[in-house]
Amino acid sequence: MRAKKILVTGGAGYIGSHTVVELVRAGYEPVILDNFSNSERFIITRIRKITGRNVPLHTGDCAFREDVARVFRKEGHFHGIIHFAALKAVEESVSQPLRYYRNNLGGMLTMLEAAEQYRVPNFVFSSSCTIYGNPDKLPVRENAPVRKAASPYGETKQIAEQMLETFIQSGVPLKAVSLRYFNPIGAHSSGLIGELPLGVPKNLVPFITQTAAGLRKILQVYGDDYSTPDGTCIRDYIHVVDLAVAHIRALMYLERKRTRTFYDVFNIGTGRGHSVLEILRTFEKVTGVKVPHKIAPRRSGDIAKIYAAAGKAKKELRWHAKRSLEDALSSSWAWQSQFLSIEAKRKLGQSKSPS
Ligand code: NAD
Ligand code: UD1
Repeated sequence: MRAKKILVTGGAGYIGSHTVVELVRAGYEPVILDNFSNSERFIITRIRKITGRNVPLHTGDCAFREDVARVFRKEGHFHGIIHFAALKAVEESVSQPLRYYRNNLGGMLTMLEAAEQYRVPNFVFSSSCTIYGNPDKLPVRENAPVRKAASPYGETKQIAEQMLETFIQSGVPLKAVSLRYFNPIGAHSSGLIGELPLGVPKNLVPFITQTAAGLRKILQVYGDDYSTPDGTCIRDYIHVVDLAVAHIRALMYLERKRTRTFYDVFNIGTGRGHSVLEILRTFEKVTGVKVPHKIAPRRSGDIAKIYAAAGKAKKELRWHAKRSLEDALSSSWAWQSQFLSIEAKRKLGQSKSPS
């Protein structure tokens, strides 16, 4: 049987690296294209260590046609593309909108052109629950209206979804899904790969783990006067390994489709909401580590609550989130703890860069 090669753009990143591991487990042959604009090369070594495979890496930019053409010339036919590569810092996108449009929309455009030119039959796109804005009804379903985006980052997700849908409506032989992720957290059980935030983390869980590790003084809980049971915001936190598995199920779903042209969208979340204080308390319970924190003013742009209607993915993709919040938080801590010890040694000059 022909190998099922999958081109994974952004495969060295947080979600991409976990998905590459799950692709190997499921019998696919992932090939990574990454420009390392937000990731580290040692993650590739770690992926190879976990999988026992020499997963091919191409260093390049998925928005550059020449870089993408080079990958196809070297690798030949691809069974699918999973397109993760994008810039994702919401605040940064407000101050550098053109950089976000060029990278995220340019990347999407080039990958869709490649799918057509090289006759790739399957395509999975990384979208986000951010496209719903502040939803009227909860849990939020896939047919909820897409609201004006609160940031250029959010705009790139809305426009990229639209580009994909319109392209497919033109009759091109491509089957595709957009996966709208809720809040990914956690790390691989090996502790070898996980999220690598650059600078001061903006997201809740990396801020918690860095505060617990003593790298940050205090966690600010942004607002306790929302209309939620404890006054803090509610989100749907999904374990990154469950999220990675959703991509395999999405590929299998597309393979089951008998048509040559197809498009749909799926929420990828647990269907359950947790407040900021619940996350904090659960983290302290599972790790036994106290996290200094204080209530701070609301963060601008935050909505009170959002969580997924997860039924469509369960029924059609045959996927649901299996891992618990406790698992996710203890794996984040294990990753933080071991990564930190390597970084600390590196700073003290006792070790070369991690491998
Ligand atoms: P990440 O930054 O860890 O990974 C993205 C990877 O893409 C990085 O390795 C980066 O170097 C690479 N990259 C960026 N632009 C590139 C380009 N032009 N060419 C080649 N490589 C490029 O981010 P992540 O958290 O793994 O997110 C993956 C995808 O999921 C992104 O599209 C992101 O917008 C989306 N998403 C993430 C979240 C989240 O909270 N992490 C939530 C919803 C959606
Ligand atoms: C953010 C992004 C969203 C992205 C998502 C992925 C914004 C406006 N949105 O969503 O586009 O898809 O990450 O994970 O940035 N919190 C604190 N203290 C902190 C950090 C966060 O109290 O130091 C609270 C926030 O107010 C929020 C919750 O924790 O209520 C989760 O925050 P965060 O992890 O940043 O995710 P989102 O804001 O949901």
